[in-house]
Amino acid sequence: MGLERSTDPPFVIRRAEDGDILAAYAVFRRSLGAYLHRLGFIDSPTITDEMVRESWTVRRTWVEHLWRTAAENWVAVDPNGRVVGWAQSAERDGHLELTFFFVNPDVQSKGMGRALLDRAFPRDRAAHRAIFATQDPRALSLYLRSGVRFVTTVVDFAAKPRPTTVTTDLEIEPIMPGPAAIEVIAGIETAILGHRRDIDIAFLLDRRPAWLARRGGKVVGFAFGARGDTVGPLGVLEPDDMPALLAVVENEAAEVGVPELFFSTPLANAVAVDYFLGRGYRIDPFVAAILADDLSMHLDRWIHTNPSYIL
Ligand SMILES: CC(C)(COP(=O)(O)OP(=O)(O)OC[C@H]1O[C@@H](n2cnc3c(N)ncnc32)[C@H](O)[C@@H]1OP(=O)(O)O)[C@@H](O)C(=O)NCCC(=O)NCCS
Repeated sequence: MGLERSTDPPFVIRRAEDGDILAAYAVFRRSLGAYLHRLGFIDSPTITDEMVRESWTVRRTWVEHLWRTAAENWVAVDPNGRVVGWAQSAERDGHLELTFFFVNPDVQSKGMGRALLDRAFPRDRAAHRAIFATQDPRALSLYLRSGVRFVTTVVDFAAKPRPTTVTTDLEIEPIMPGPAAIEVIAGIETAILGHRRDIDIAFLLDRRPAWLARRGGKVVGFAFGARGDTVGPLGVLEPDDMPALLAVVENEAAEVGVPELFFSTPLANAVAVDYFLGRGYRIDPFVAAILADDLSMHLDRWIHTNPSYIL
């Protein structure tokens, strides 16, 4: 690995090391906080050390999973050795996804982001590439010049879960974690996304309730339910089968007392949009977009993984 140095300011871009994880996470939280403040969603742009620590407790399992399984993981370091930028990607089955891309607010717009993105999200690393993107103009500008295109807007539909009934001919059953479960979910994911993500599905199966939907014995969909306010992903081969699985997830969340659910939903998924709006869900103002070089993903039958680190 060669270290590279930019001229102004003199920061160093290097591969992330294990000891960088908390500092990188702090960059993510501070950068996101400043972004949310710019959009008017939070009062103060300042994210204190205590706020970083609190959110780390909630999110560390995910962040550590993605850190351990990263394809590319790079940090920018200032002359005092402080981590001030972080870019990371995950590669699954020939598909590269940008998982984190953040620069500290006090050193943004100085070229650090571009240098990090070049390393963490190279064009030639995988057959296909995708990004779960904020609306930050600098991020969008860099992304759209890196070979990805707009696919769909994504919003969180939020509500307190309430019991509901959806008429369906599907047989929906809880799924037991294990290699067989991973294999059937991989089949659905490959049909919808074009790639499988065994390592993430294994991770999710250990942490969230999950169901398979069958018709005539054939698996036609799956759903990961809620633990805390996080839920998903859900995928079905036919869009009209989505409400039955959404209802299973919502019913279980209501039963275990989840206070509020956030379904990270591609607006291309018209059936899910109708379900949520028909049930009085509200649209969270944090709007994101999926950018990809593969425009053949079928996101009209998909609900994303929440938190929004991967599709
Ligand atoms: C996105 C982010 C990581 C980029 O890092 P950065 O160091 O600020 O970015 P850089 O200075 O390297 O590059 C910004 C680029 O956007 C361009 N740019 C800036 N404003 C722009 C605008 N309004 N329209 C188009 N391009 C714009 C700049 O010219 C520059 O491109 P160039 O290198 O070709 O000149 C950083 O700004 C950030 O942390 N933003 C908030 C968090 C966020 O939204 N992250 C994205 C997560 S998906």
